[in-house]
Amino acid sequence: MVEALRGVSLTLHEGEFMVVMGPSGSGKTTLLNIIGTLDKPTSGQALIDGEDIARMSDKQLTKLRRFKIGFVFQFHNLIPVLSALENVQLPLLTAGLGHKKSEDRASELLDRVGLRDRVDHLPDELSGGEQQRVAIARALANRPRIVLADEPTGDLDTKTGSDVVQIMYALAKQERTAVIVVTHDPIIAERADVLLEMRDGRIVETMREPLSKVKHMVRAVEPMPPDPGRSVSQPN
Ligand SMILES: Nc1ncnc2c1ncn2[C@@H]1O[C@H](COP(=O)(O)OP(=O)(O)O)[C@@H](O)[C@H]1O
Ligand SMILES: [Mg+2]
Repeated sequence: MVEALRGVSLTLHEGEFMVVMGPSGSGKTTLLNIIGTLDKPTSGQALIDGEDIARMSDKQLTKLRRFKIGFVFQFHNLIPVLSALENVQLPLLTAGLGHKKSEDRASELLDRVGLRDRVDHLPDELSGGEQQRVAIARALANRPRIVLADEPTGDLDTKTGSDVVQIMYALAKQERTAVIVVTHDPIIAERADVLLEMRDGRIVETMREPLSKVKHMVRAVEPMPPDPGRSVSQPN
């Protein structure tokens, strides 16, 4: 019997950016999977917007995942035969938004992650960092309450990874989405409103900015960083 999480208790507020660190096997993915309703806890409660996810029917859970939770994975999981635009559009269409509206929302999101010139590209025509930015735009498409990102930069070099998380940070703040990122990158951890360090299924350390400061940061979000690829002239 593996006790992947033991006595973990935490609260995440609207717009907060939480970073989870800790060695491999410490329970980080389990924590995200429980919050993302992919796993159910043996005991204890997970509440999203005050609702206990263990008490929800499969239908309610599907709806919750579709509208309230956005996922960003280590490997972007984009659909290879769909363009960047179509990948972002898909969750919007699935949620019932019309073709034109979903296209507008998807291109606006791609614009905001710095990919205006790449909307028609297929995933394998994009760099790793660009693919992950498409995945972030897709995760935020339906304006979720919370975005869960499990080692989203694990497959990227340090600079690209930091840029990707910076974009996720800015976009989430603009959309007032709460974010949980699992990462080993100390530079990303410096941005955290809430920093958790896990070991053996427990939280061993927590740092939390006062909520007043977080709210202030939500209002005073900095403009989007320039697209790192733009400053270099690219043969095209
Ligand atoms: N499906 C599973 N069944 C049994 N044990 C698991 C399963 N998934 C993970 N574990 C165990 O639970 C613990 C926490 O794993 P995980 O949450 O994946 O850690 P992390 O993401 O921090 O590397 C580890 O000891 C791991 O071996
Ligand atoms: Mg993990």
